[in-house]
Amino acid sequence: MDFKTDVLCIGAGYVGGPTMAVIADRCPHVKVTVVDVNAARIAAWNSDDLPIYEPGLDEVVRRARGRNLFFTTDVQAGIKAADIIFVSVNTPTKTFGEGAGRAADLQYWEKTAREILACADRDKIVVEKSTLPVRTAEAMERILNNNTRGLRFDVLSNPEFLAEGTAVADLENPDRVLVGSHETPEGLRARKAVVDIYTTWVPRERVIESNLWSSELTKLTANAFLAQRISSINSISALCERTEADVDQVAYAIGTDSRIGSRFLKASVGFGGSCFKKDILNLVYIAETYGLHEVAEYWESVVRMNEWQQTRFVRNMLANMFNTVAGKRIALLGFAFKADTGDTRESAAISVTRQLLADHARVVITDPKALDNARRDCAGFEGDLTFEPDPYRAAAGAHAIAVLTEWRLYKTLDYGRILDGMEKPAFIFDGRNILDHRTLFEMGFNVFPIGKRPLKHF
Ligand SMILES: NC(=O)c1ccc[n+]([C@@H]2O[C@H](COP(=O)([O-])OP(=O)(O)OC[C@H]3O[C@@H](n4cnc5c(N)ncnc54)[C@H](O)[C@@H]3O)[C@@H](O)[C@H]2O)c1
Repeated sequence: MDFKTDVLCIGAGYVGGPTMAVIADRCPHVKVTVVDVNAARIAAWNSDDLPIYEPGLDEVVRRARGRNLFFTTDVQAGIKAADIIFVSVNTPTKTFGEGAGRAADLQYWEKTAREILACADRDKIVVEKSTLPVRTAEAMERILNNNTRGLRFDVLSNPEFLAEGTAVADLENPDRVLVGSHETPEGLRARKAVVDIYTTWVPRERVIESNLWSSELTKLTANAFLAQRISSINSISALCERTEADVDQVAYAIGTDSRIGSRFLKASVGFGGSCFKKDILNLVYIAETYGLHEVAEYWESVVRMNEWQQTRFVRNMLANMFNTVAGKRIALLGFAFKADTGDTRESAAISVTRQLLADHARVVITDPKALDNARRDCAGFEGDLTFEPDPYRAAAGAHAIAVLTEWRLYKTLDYGRILDGMEKPAFIFDGRNILDHRTLFEMGFNVFPIGKRPLKHF
């Protein structure tokens, strides 16, 4: 079949895979190839057992794969054939050298630029899909356009706003799509080529166009604002616990103010995920490099508040379990950083597990989708740690259970059966405020929500 456009995506991860699957599904006239250096990941994308869990993703991939959606490890052939190359490689926080712990590690990104340059034999549009520091496109252009073969590369920014757990719905019906380019005739032409792909299914008014730097900075800003809301309500949750105010009531009441809005006001054990912390720290680093120390400090406090909330959660467990958890079995319900994903990157559960093990608790982790990732995350942890797919078996013999992921499943467990099998007094620490606290208390549990008065029998 003849395709109108040949699109390549480098990086078959949580962003590259679902994004390209939806583009292929919605644009049968576009041939979409996704490449990755990780052969196991590509093999999984070509199998019935996809490498990531996202509701609805199996169906989308099944419809398009082999028709106009292809997964392969042949990066070179992919680059050669492509008109438009999306780059969706990982951009983690640097762990070494200058900027360690804050700056984005751009080594995968730069390697991709050099691969594109080495393999391309005609002009290409290169689209930043990864989240990158503002002005990265400048470096990308320097590498790409510094060639003696007369090749021209137009670099665009098209950050991805999908949320894990709702990736397919977000991609099929996005709040907005942002495409940034240079505002030159060539830049605008390249921008139109990418806009045309999205407007196949996204209403035109939801496609926002901007200059390159605004687009790059928007993604960092969006994540910083989202994380800031969580840290803000979490800071209030601590105050609620001291004052008998109820954080859910406060959040509901402020959320009805249309200037504030109701979303992202759920107090919890803290935010996780691969993006929020990394992107804020990157923003902090960028502000510092421009000498904007007050800006840097302001945003850094969002991350500090999140870390404090995670630590506070465990301190609260300790304080209420008679100041010791040594030798006590504690079941953690959920390890994914949020519901409906198997992703555990930066999950609050990692820090909670580490802290409980340091206090010699016997920790058992259960999760419906994230146990393999949990095992990997905890591989180096010392102490008594087990993994159990069945939540009832995880809770059997436990002194306490802690809800760390808001899986719907945990709302509907038979807590009477769980209580029967637990040591007494039995504790529940609801790090997501999803359970019916009053009913659990009446059953006999001692219940410790976030940002609410605890319900205890002693
Ligand atoms: N995960 C999210 O929810 C999300 C949302 C929006 C934006 N982002 C951003 O998107 C980018 C990708 O995130 P992700 O979660 O998909 O990461 P990921 O780690 O799941 O996937 C990245 C993939 O890129 C591959 N890769 C790295 N270098 C390569 C190379 N030279 N050639 C081919 N493949 C290469 C890796 O093997 C990996 O499979 C990041 O910048 C992230 O900040 C992520």
